[in-house]
Amino acid sequence: MFETLQPAAPDGILMLMSLYRDDPRAGKLDLGVGVYKDVDGKTPVMRAVREAERRLHKSQATKSYLGLAGDTVFNELMIGVVFGDKADRARLRAAQTPGGTGALRLLADLIRLSRPDATVWVPDPTWPNHMPILRAAGLKAQTYAYFDAENGGVRFDAMTEALEAIPAGDVVLLHGCCHNPTGADLSLDQWRSVARLLAERGLTPFVDIAYQGFGEGLEQDAAGLRILAETVPELLAAASCSKNFSVYRDRAGAALILGSNKAEADTAYGQLLGIARGIWSMPPDHAAACVRIVLEDDDLRTDWKAELEAVRQRMMSLRQGFADALRRHSNSDRFDFIARQRGMFSRLGISAEQVAKLRADHGVYIVGDSRFNVAGLPGDRLDDLAAKIVSVL
Ligand code: LMR
Repeated sequence: MFETLQPAAPDGILMLMSLYRDDPRAGKLDLGVGVYKDVDGKTPVMRAVREAERRLHKSQATKSYLGLAGDTVFNELMIGVVFGDKADRARLRAAQTPGGTGALRLLADLIRLSRPDATVWVPDPTWPNHMPILRAAGLKAQTYAYFDAENGGVRFDAMTEALEAIPAGDVVLLHGCCHNPTGADLSLDQWRSVARLLAERGLTPFVDIAYQGFGEGLEQDAAGLRILAETVPELLAAASCSKNFSVYRDRAGAALILGSNKAEADTAYGQLLGIARGIWSMPPDHAAACVRIVLEDDDLRTDWKAELEAVRQRMMSLRQGFADALRRHSNSDRFDFIARQRGMFSRLGISAEQVAKLRADHGVYIVGDSRFNVAGLPGDRLDDLAAKIVSVL
């Protein structure tokens, strides 16, 4: 049977992880995969999560199954984190998933079940795993205009024009915040305009919110999604706890759905859980249980928010410091956009050959489209890094 298979195309981000691991050079620098790193280059377990793990270890008396939706308290709490206090809970449902990717796949399968002929429109560019996930679910996927490489912002007129041309009944994938890979986000006015457009044209938003808390703040980063939820009848959202709770490998996320009314939300939710039964049956518990413990406890929640905010502030100052260093070394404002963008990623806007040269000559690892992980920037060696980048231009 296996003789029929062709070698799998490598994932550009994950391939970089193994290339980096195998590089023997001492001064190598990993700016590839999106994980937060502290000043020592470590990806720490957050304080509140560590304490939650301790409490879980002490109190958990069984590892018996929880059910298709996972931890239902976690699910309710995640609705609060993502949709806020004013959420229309009668129309909202959540299912715990293995990471944000699990949520994306589950929701893609739900789209396929509800509207088998729908096309899902994704921004150009988008996270390289979006298209494969959508296609694996049997959906058609196409791009709409999004990023303005000239000024590092959003081509909003072109985006609007593209969305206006999408046939009713299709689905539009939007990054809730911290656009991956560009760091270019919509303003609140632009979110309002997109929300109106989607509602008028009968398009369903599918929001990937994997970096809530990494951009403008925990509440601010969900503001666009909340505007959508107030405006459109139905919405799908994939949330991740990988980054904002730093539980990457333990895999916790949530598939969230907003139905037109309670009955439709219930029906869609029942189908969603049926799909989960056919994929992983029941989601892994550990990270979601820890997130639940953190969110349920006032002190732990406060501490988590404070640590998350410190992480965000550090990334903001790395953005500014890096843009300043590049300005000094390139003698130009070419890279100033880095300070204006938000979240974990930006693109340097250099060619694939220059990216390869940066890796070969200097051991600096960034993704082939020139995306780099802001959180991996070495705060004390930004000038050194800027000089290396300028040397390959
Ligand atoms: C990234 O974009 O680097 C992260 O979302 C990790 C991944 O799975 O690609």
